[in-house]
Amino acid sequence: MKKITIAIDGYSSCGKSTMAKDLAREVGYIYIDSGAMYRAVTLYCLDNGLFTPDGIDTAQLEAAMPNIRISFQLNPETQRPMTYLNGVNVEDRIRTMEVSTRVSPVAALPFVREALVKLQQEMGKAKGIVMDGRDIGTVVFPDAELKIFVVASAEIRAQRRYDELKAKGQEASYEEILANVKERDYIDQNREVSPLRQAEDAILLDNSNLTIEEQKQWLAAEFEKAVNGKC
Ligand code: CDP
Repeated sequence: MKKITIAIDGYSSCGKSTMAKDLAREVGYIYIDSGAMYRAVTLYCLDNGLFTPDGIDTAQLEAAMPNIRISFQLNPETQRPMTYLNGVNVEDRIRTMEVSTRVSPVAALPFVREALVKLQQEMGKAKGIVMDGRDIGTVVFPDAELKIFVVASAEIRAQRRYDELKAKGQEASYEEILANVKERDYIDQNREVSPLRQAEDAILLDNSNLTIEEQKQWLAAEFEKAVNGKC
């Protein structure tokens, strides 16, 4: 069967990665979490003192970009992808609030986007890929055969992220998460380079009132339509 490219974009914490991961596993496609790549660059900045009282040391970060190697490896137990930064597994560290509160300004830097988009396009060259993010259907893979744009209310998204962090045993405050979700929405939608927006040919999914199982079935049906339409 011919392989296609699937782009899943949407707001922070709206369940994109859960649905993208599940679909990829079921149809045997590669799954790439582009947000994890922006988070890994943010962690690099934290670990290397590139956040200054005035913001980000962009000159140093730009010089360091060629030395920031990001890759993914499947966890053999869970079959879930783990993010590696310069050979070190940083999957847990990139999901902390410390990274969440700093990632959007890093992701708004044009030279960061340019480098990561290039890497993402390389990863998708052979198709058979599900990638989620903010600009996958608009910038990274404008020719993707299936594009989904996911939305849900900020309160529901904050609650989901809160439950996720708690389940992992991490400290979390619902109010802090809600404020972060809203702040990232604002930065992601208003940045100059590749702002978050729905591609014209993307299918809108409001999953505010859908269970994980319901959204999984919805996506599986859309995948079938896209594949059959293209074969
Ligand atoms: O999982 P969550 O929705 O919290 O966010 P994420 O997908 O891990 O992405 C973290 C941040 O990276 C977002 O808030 C965006 O600022 C940025 N990002 C982006 O600019 N472009 C992408 N393709 C993916 C993420």
